[in-house]
Amino acid sequence: STTLAYPDRRVAAAADLPVNNVSMFNYPDEDSPCYLLRMGEPVPGGVGPDGDIVAYSAFCTHMGCPVQYDGDTRTFKCGCHFSIFDPETGGQMVSGQATENLPRIVLHYDTKTGGVHAVGVDGLIYGRQSNIL
Ligand code: FES
Repeated sequence: STTLAYPDRRVAAAADLPVNNVSMFNYPDEDSPCYLLRMGEPVPGGVGPDGDIVAYSAFCTHMGCPVQYDGDTRTFKCGCHFSIFDPETGGQMVSGQATENLPRIVLHYDTKTGGVHAVGVDGLIYGRQSNIL
């Protein structure tokens, strides 16, 4: 069988991203919504000039409900069964029904253009047997 490669998709200019606010993009295809988030301080897996830009699948790993970002607690929360995920620790599940961390979108920062690119996924997006279909 063939191993398909992840696409390289430019998702934002690092300079345009406000701290502690999410924006959305789709990756690795149009059926997979993801959150892009700048934390304001360096975090594991973070890219950009400050090492603080991260991205995650928007689908909860429990049963696939969309998670929402809560800027007060700086966590992703799932309203379906109250799982909580921490974007500052690689998407680690903090509490709830899920058994897997939130899939992390692997980012690359292009120092020449200032662009943030999605280049891979660490973890399995909910409902998929493989991230690349
Ligand atoms: Fe998110 Fe159940 S679908 S906690």
